[in-house]
Amino acid sequence: MVQFTDVFKSYENGAKALRGVSFTIRDGEFAFLVGPSGSGKTTIIKLLTGEIAPTDGKVLVNDYDLGTIKFSRMPYMRRTLGVVFQDYRLIEDKSVYENVAFAMRVVGASNKEIRRRVPYVLELVGLDKRTKRKPQELSGGEQQRVAIARALVNNPRLIIADEPTGNLDPARSLEIMMLLQKINELGTTVLVVTHEKELVESFSKRVIAIDGGKVISDGMGGYYNYER
Ligand SMILES: Nc1ncnc2c1ncn2[C@@H]1O[C@H](COP(=O)(O)OP(=O)(O)OP(=O)(O)O)[C@@H](O)[C@H]1O
Ligand SMILES: [Mg+2]
Repeated sequence: MVQFTDVFKSYENGAKALRGVSFTIRDGEFAFLVGPSGSGKTTIIKLLTGEIAPTDGKVLVNDYDLGTIKFSRMPYMRRTLGVVFQDYRLIEDKSVYENVAFAMRVVGASNKEIRRRVPYVLELVGLDKRTKRKPQELSGGEQQRVAIARALVNNPRLIIADEPTGNLDPARSLEIMMLLQKINELGTTVLVVTHEKELVESFSKRVIAIDGGKVISDGMGGYYNYER
């Protein structure tokens, strides 16, 4: 669950990135967050991962109030999230299997849990035949699947993807979106940031559109009109 209530964010240089943003994403939902470059999309993602704090307003993520959360509770909040980036951010000298297993090791999972869970998520993302390869030996789409497997492996309540298809061709982009849709159907809440209009329009999903740091439309279907 994500709830923004009248959120404002100004950066140190005075840039007003968000000017009163409110929306709620309930558990189990799939939503696209769209808008032109500089509209505030990544700012919203950074607020909900706790990387930055709002200037004003309230941010709730999976029952944690990020305005009042104790610093020591932040790691617990983060464990309820899986984050996927445009540039994959994989560990180059580790295999596919080890990249995913590593995310479990850092939260203290047992070897037994790792041996059970990692093959399951790698099969889910369609990489069960690539487990021994290093990231450089994979295509971009495959690397993004590893990143999605890693985001998913600790069973987060919410997956957030910031331009996950920004470096992929249209066919690979569609495959990644369909994978995120499948993950959502299995019960995880999904929020995807993108500015690929055609891609969004090929899915009948909720679209939250922002421009100039404000929500300008929010509704179901592939339509939005942020381009003016
Ligand atoms: N660290 C920062 N310091 C100062 N200003 C910033 C910072 N990060 C972002 N901004 C400004 O805040 C506004 C929103 O930026 P943001 O990165 O959220 O946009 P975006 O919608 O993610 O854009 P893009 O599609 O290009 O990724 C922009 O005007 C940007 O210049
Ligand atoms: Mg951005």
